[in-house]
Amino acid sequence: MRKSSRYGWLVILLGSALLAGCSAIPSVFTPMSPTSQQIYRLIWIIFSIAAVVFLVVEGILLYAAWRFSRKSSEAFPKQVEGNQKLEIAWTMAPAVVLAAVFIISLPTLRYLTTQPASDPGPGGKTALRVHVIAHQWWWEFQYPDLKIVTANELYVPVGTVVNIDLESKDVIHSFWIPPLGGKIDVIPGQVNHTWFQVTQAGAYVGQCSEFCGIDHAFMRFEVVAEPQDQFDSWTRLMQASAAVMTGEAAQGEQVFLAGACSACHTVSGTAAQGKVGPDLTHFASRTKFAGWTEDNTPENLAKWLADPQSVQPGTLMPNLHLPPDQIQLLVTYLESLK
Ligand code: CUA
Repeated sequence: MRKSSRYGWLVILLGSALLAGCSAIPSVFTPMSPTSQQIYRLIWIIFSIAAVVFLVVEGILLYAAWRFSRKSSEAFPKQVEGNQKLEIAWTMAPAVVLAAVFIISLPTLRYLTTQPASDPGPGGKTALRVHVIAHQWWWEFQYPDLKIVTANELYVPVGTVVNIDLESKDVIHSFWIPPLGGKIDVIPGQVNHTWFQVTQAGAYVGQCSEFCGIDHAFMRFEVVAEPQDQFDSWTRLMQASAAVMTGEAAQGEQVFLAGACSACHTVSGTAAQGKVGPDLTHFASRTKFAGWTEDNTPENLAKWLADPQSVQPGTLMPNLHLPPDQIQLLVTYLESLK
């Protein structure tokens, strides 16, 4: 074996470790919320316990291999079979270790699911409530106190406690933003609770982490943590109804309202009040669409409207077989929904 290929695995391992530390890739090793910091601590405690178990077991194994191995080609080592005391011991030891890990994990589980009423730190701002609704295959974010509904992009103020209630419209999904907290199941007919408090402004990519059908891997989202004043301007923008359209955008609006689009999508301030697909009132302000996988550009949007299946096989967005001129008008309209 050549030296370079022999050490190839080491390069891959070190490379992955480096990438894991990089902020572009979501990682549990860069905790950015008290909740994920708690999990991060727990990871190291459990890892340490596992490391001790590993060393003890491997140590005994190596010692036994050395101590009880055949000493010469003639002599047979002593043949032993069954030792009740030992068998009880090695059944009990893992049970005790697992029970300890369970007990150590309980306070963290409790911490993650107990929503604080307000920021426990100095200043103590009121918590922000967000209702997360999972759909095959996109995320709906409702802000009940601010009367805002968005899709796939969750804006929050830095330093504010964000209390999250989660529910699913169809199958079981799992809500996960690695730097901001643990995975939490999103279940139809049951409301689960969690929270986070982002300590540093930035964008954090989240991902559905429970297999939920063909487009599970394309069920992403982004948390955008902004300073309070920027979040407030975002709030005002989102609370406004869709702008009044003129020219081609107005023609696109007519196509949207007359066709099947408005049966599934809401554009507030218009007759479109569908609830099946994402709310599109401020579609143009989003950076991505289709489960936060496609860059929101006129070209991508035109491709999507022409044949959603070719962009994301399995998507529940139907192909309406729209003529190219209507697609063009719809793109102009949707990209005007700032
Ligand atoms: Cu939703 Cu996987």
